[in-house]
Amino acid sequence: MDKFKIVGGASLHGELPVSGSKNSALPALAAALLTDEPVILHGIPRVKDIATMESLLVHIGAAVELQNGAVHVDARNLERPEAPYEVVKTMRASSLVLGPLAARTGRARVSMPGGCAIGARPINLHLSALEQLGATIEQTHGYVEAVAPGGLRGGNIHFDRITVTGTEDLLMAAVLARGETIIRNAAREPEVKDLAELLNKMGAKIEGAGTSIIRVTGVERLHGAEHTIIPDRIEAGTFLLAGAITNGDVTVTGCNPEHVAALTIKMTQAGAEIENAGANALRARCCRRPRAVDVTTEEYPGFATDLQAQYMAWMTIAQGISFVTETIFENRFMHTQELARMGANIRIEGRQAIVAGEDCLTGAQVIASDLRASASLVLAAMVAKGETIIDRVYHMDRGYERIEEKLAAVGADIERIR
Ligand code: EPU
Repeated sequence: MDKFKIVGGASLHGELPVSGSKNSALPALAAALLTDEPVILHGIPRVKDIATMESLLVHIGAAVELQNGAVHVDARNLERPEAPYEVVKTMRASSLVLGPLAARTGRARVSMPGGCAIGARPINLHLSALEQLGATIEQTHGYVEAVAPGGLRGGNIHFDRITVTGTEDLLMAAVLARGETIIRNAAREPEVKDLAELLNKMGAKIEGAGTSIIRVTGVERLHGAEHTIIPDRIEAGTFLLAGAITNGDVTVTGCNPEHVAALTIKMTQAGAEIENAGANALRARCCRRPRAVDVTTEEYPGFATDLQAQYMAWMTIAQGISFVTETIFENRFMHTQELARMGANIRIEGRQAIVAGEDCLTGAQVIASDLRASASLVLAAMVAKGETIIDRVYHMDRGYERIEEKLAAVGADIERIR
């Protein structure tokens, strides 16, 4: 199993380019199932979760090819409209094929996701929304089957709680349903908006994506399209924090500053200097320990849960005590025990982590428990005294493209060891 060896202490200086968004690329690939014409996607990051989604599309019957850096999906044949257990257990976002398959073929079978390192993460909201569109849902032998032989029909959906992939799944079902669908309490994440843009290019009629009420007028068929995925805001945020935690000066390029505003405002309050460096770049500098500044995770445009662990890594060396409150997932503090092995002083009380900043961290052997937890350990290791070995970096490989190469290019002492 690959590990990272990181020697802390080096300040990062230079440009950190951001890849395409993993969480936008996943639904975009699933959306290609909605048409029998080719869909060409640019900016798809070469990370493990994407490889998993691509192999799922191939299992279903689509042809997936990488040509000149763009992913071409041809889903004219859908022989097996299903997501088997082997795939879903490695990536929960596989449930994103449920909506498009039910819409296009009238039948979809997806293994129920089990527990997850960061919380229970059920898909009950996806299922009840699909039922509202006329699908019959049955659960047997660990699989959920959605059947709509006569096709789906428009419906009035109100999500009991905001769900990102639930909104995306339903959007992909509604575009081919007969009549109008209104989705209320929809997720407003940029990835939802990006998906709607792709679907509209494919001939869908969606209005309001990016707000909490989305209106969809169903169409009979969709056609092929070409689309560029938005930049990964979580990678961008991770890099801004990497610049700050190492007392460096980095320019994060190819990002959308608006998408990370909740983070950059907190970082500025904590003492980092963040400025626009052109329309698609942000410069982050810091020359001292941060001040302790509290955060509470929320749905977009609030502070992203996917940046909570990385922000907490920075707060472990802050002056003062910060409160980090997690409201999206019930178990997203696995990184705190590993950060504690590096000298961090963190107490967990329910959904709140109380972080008392220390003068310094020290390198240690630690284990990555999930994708964003691994990123927080990399950040902590870059500022810790001495050497840190991070085990199970396969979690990191699920969502960050060549991160060790990108960080090493701006001065980090990081190496992948096998
Ligand atoms: N929820 C339910 N029932 C459902 C769906 C969600 O109870 O049917 C709950 C979840 O358990 C959670 C909350 O609602 O407590 C919000 O979950 P959401 O559905 O929004 O999360 P998701 O769509 O499964 C996406 C991202 C996550 C990110 C969350 C929140 C993708 C592929 N995944 O997950 O990304 O943390 O939204 O922003 O888009 C990551 O990239 O590391 C990652 C975990």
